[in-house]
Amino acid sequence: MSKYAQELRNTAKAMMAEGKGILAMDESNGTCNKRFKNLDIEPVEENRRAYRELLITAPDLGNYISGAILYDETIRQSTKDGVSFVKAMQDAGIIPGIKVDTGAKDLAARPNEKVTEGLDGLRDRIAEYYEMGARFAKWRSVITIGDGIPSDGCIEANAHGLARYAVLCQEGGLVPIVEPEVLINGDHTIETCYEVTEKTLHEVFRQLYVQNAAYDQMILKPSMVISGADCSQQASVEEVASETVRCLMNCVPASVPGIAFLSGGQSEQRASAHLNEMNAKYRSQFPWRVTFSYARAIQQPALNYWKGEQSNVEEAQKRLVERAKLNSEASKGNYSQSMEKEPALV
Ligand code: 13P
Repeated sequence: MSKYAQELRNTAKAMMAEGKGILAMDESNGTCNKRFKNLDIEPVEENRRAYRELLITAPDLGNYISGAILYDETIRQSTKDGVSFVKAMQDAGIIPGIKVDTGAKDLAARPNEKVTEGLDGLRDRIAEYYEMGARFAKWRSVITIGDGIPSDGCIEANAHGLARYAVLCQEGGLVPIVEPEVLINGDHTIETCYEVTEKTLHEVFRQLYVQNAAYDQMILKPSMVISGADCSQQASVEEVASETVRCLMNCVPASVPGIAFLSGGQSEQRASAHLNEMNAKYRSQFPWRVTFSYARAIQQPALNYWKGEQSNVEEAQKRLVERAKLNSEASKGNYSQSMEKEPALV
């Protein structure tokens, strides 16, 4: 057992505090720059720093966000007043987390499938991040649905990587967020998504078991069971909630402290509505906390408003906190469409 076992349980509990969720802001430089370019924001380090400062210093964010996931560049940065981001987050009551995978790369001999890399040297990187103040980590694997895929080989390779990462994190004092994302891309039905997600989660928990990971010292970050983005038959909010809950109940051990969903390309309102429906209807049956760990579905309104302009920071922060608050309500089953300022559910 890790010498950090009790600390890890305490961190996981704090991450999963009632009414709170996790802000994913760990976009790699490449992904962050791509989102900047879409809005004509210059893709340079100073803009990435300024944008992340906007996020972590948003007033009252800590009321709704328990922890935020940083990228390697970001965890080393400071506010314009010289306060390290880690310190600024600690002062705001937000636990610093860190993405430690090095990205999804092409899987050899498996066309159109990916495997996530980053195990080499990971023990040392974890020690450095712990020293810097990080208390949890994230590793994302992607599973693609398509013609004849995912293969068993792809699911197994990714689950193995997640498990090896998780035990290294636990050994070094970081709570691992285990993120197997079944991508929304494609025209598959919700039934296919269910089958692939169930198979993936079973393999992930099997590999975690084989590698001696402690289920009670981790957080699962899954995708929802949902229709493919290009499927002509889009499942309802009720169906996404019931199929996702059915899948999780069949796969996730009760000792796991919490489940925090990624948004995966869903609209902001859909991501809130789905999380809310799960909690409103099924919460009394859950052995775990069920909340959010969204990136796009929390950040996008703020980024759209900011556009790289200092004069827009205050209003952009309000939009960020508004989305965090709505998702906080959804994590308690108290969100409703009428709380939205922009009414259309898209
Ligand atoms: P999205 O919520 O935008 O899917 O991002 C979550 C995340 O952390 C992806 O790794």
